[in-house]
Amino acid sequence: MTQDELKQAVARAALDYIKPKIDEESVIGIGTGSTANYFIDYLAEIKAQVNATVASSQASADRLKSHGIPVFDLNTVDEITVYVDGADEVDPSLALIKGGGAALTREKIVAAVAKEFVCIADGSKFVDQLGNFPLPVEVIPMARSYVARQLVKLGGDPVYREGVVTDNGNIILDVYNFMIPGPRITEQKINDIVGVVSNGIFARRPADILLLATAEGVKQIKAQ
Ligand code: 5RP
Repeated sequence: MTQDELKQAVARAALDYIKPKIDEESVIGIGTGSTANYFIDYLAEIKAQVNATVASSQASADRLKSHGIPVFDLNTVDEITVYVDGADEVDPSLALIKGGGAALTREKIVAAVAKEFVCIADGSKFVDQLGNFPLPVEVIPMARSYVARQLVKLGGDPVYREGVVTDNGNIILDVYNFMIPGPRITEQKINDIVGVVSNGIFARRPADILLLATAEGVKQIKAQ
């Protein structure tokens, strides 16, 4: 199977996973990226059962609306029943690297509000240790050089993602050559740099369950 076919398979499995959990009171959190896009398209098949969603990016909100699925402002909901999103890397504790699509801050906010976070990924994303994928860091534009110098002190090689402005009006630094043996500590250390809005390590709020698409089928993996 191609990577794209695996993404479709896991998005379909996510729909089956959430269906029994949702009712007319439920709010579904929607992620960002190509895997999340497949999930949105499948969700449209049951849109009569979907009363509310919250999107983690403008792009996902636009896609949901194009299907006629209602999108709410997060400030108008108390709780998100279940959040479905992809990832760039997932480790066995279900800590993640996210932000390949530059939506990491809104994704982190939606994950924080969600009762259950379902990560959907193809097999290539599952790793023993986070860090081969360059770590996205969202930064206030005026702090770009300062934050980059601090990231070098932490051992990484930050690269400005040219031409990208986040939904929050900020820039992204991608940190290369930066293996992450202690994701919780590193997430906090980077957040402590003044000018950082958030970083793509999701360890303090990891996924609750991983649906992982492999050639043998979609596996359900709980944190080890
Ligand atoms: C966007 C993300 C995505 O979930 C991540 O980049 C995975 O994307 P894809 O499903 O296209 O492989 O974090 O900010």
